[in-house]
Amino acid sequence: MDTPIYPALITKALETVKYPGNGKSLVENEMVEDDIRIDGRKVSFSLIFEKPTDPFVRSVVRAAETALKTYVTADIEPTINVKYRKEPAPAPERPLPGVKHIIGVSSGKGGVGKSTVTANLAVALAKKGYKLGVLDADIFGPSMPKMFGVEDEPLYMVNQEGRDWIEPVQKYGVKMLSIGFVVDKEQAVLWRGGMASNALKQLITDAWWGDLDYFLIDMPPGTSDIHLTLVQTLPITGVVVVTTPQPVALADARKGIAMFMGDKVNVPILGLVENMAWFTPAPHPEERYYIFGEGGGVKLAEELNVKLLARIPLVADIRSHSDDGDPVALQAEADGKTSGNAEAQAFMDLASEVVKAVDLRVSTLPPTEAVKVH
Ligand SMILES: Nc1ncnc2c1ncn2[C@@H]1O[C@H](COP(=O)(O)OP(=O)(O)OP(=O)(O)O)[C@@H](O)[C@H]1O
Ligand SMILES: [Mg+2]
Repeated sequence: MDTPIYPALITKALETVKYPGNGKSLVENEMVEDDIRIDGRKVSFSLIFEKPTDPFVRSVVRAAETALKTYVTADIEPTINVKYRKEPAPAPERPLPGVKHIIGVSSGKGGVGKSTVTANLAVALAKKGYKLGVLDADIFGPSMPKMFGVEDEPLYMVNQEGRDWIEPVQKYGVKMLSIGFVVDKEQAVLWRGGMASNALKQLITDAWWGDLDYFLIDMPPGTSDIHLTLVQTLPITGVVVVTTPQPVALADARKGIAMFMGDKVNVPILGLVENMAWFTPAPHPEERYYIFGEGGGVKLAEELNVKLLARIPLVADIRSHSDDGDPVALQAEADGKTSGNAEAQAFMDLASEVVKAVDLRVSTLPPTEAVKVH
């Protein structure tokens, strides 16, 4: 007569099976679920593994079957179900699923204040109550960590929906990640295109950005592989182009705008920001010196039929606040009106114009599609 099979026999047999990942038995690892069913010679239960990519799943199941036949009875008929502790999150249909509007901040020429505008625009929009994210994609000169005063901040991972994600740094109501967190400035320029692009894609798709109203990207100056990566990875709602009033900067801004409005890349221009439009010395706030020429940005906007979103003066305050890691826009009042600080006010006004420009763009043009590679 057959001796009866009972659960303790099963467990005892499974105690002899070691999980190769750590050399401990399946029982010790708590991999045997408490769901053993016995019906005559038929036995079923579940083994729990960490994740579906565990390389030992098949070999462990086989070893368990062998152990049951060896230590319980040779004519046992086992059914072993495999379960996982962490079901992987399904890949999102598109990157940044919780983000409403993606705005590129771009310039033709370097050093015109693109990063200054990005940081202050982000802070100003956050002050107005919007949920903000900033991605510093300028591999040639990542400056968001400095402007947000988080240069030495370590990066943390966060577990959401069953997997680990990079957690953006939070400061001034803005979530921020910079390519500068992942690579040294000196190294970055030496990186071959693909490496920098991949690192950047990770900051977009492997980070837990969550729900955001606006996602600003500080793009590298001019045109580069990085621009291509960005327009291929993300459906960019529109681009804000920053220029200074002098002819060299304007000529480069024109080229930058042409790149976004070409046949292959079709990203709408939200408008132009004329930065360093005039110099105002701190002791004489009413004075304006047009040291880079007067109204270059205004004329370019007219010529190209794009909106002039703001004219930002050149004032010492803007630079020093950026260098200190607290963008000048933080000085503004939340209602955007009662600020005594004209520079902060200028960025609050820019934020209002950007909100309007995005609304107009969304209501008049079809959504941007990420550029396909052929
Ligand atoms: N309106 C302004 N008034 C005073 N200083 C400014 C203004 N705009 C930018 N700056 C200063 O000019 C310098 C260059 O600005 P910023 O780094 O924002 O330019 P960028 O276009 O991002 O440059 P890069 O091409 O190097 O990334 C910085 O020191 C910044 O603080
Ligand atoms: Mg910059």
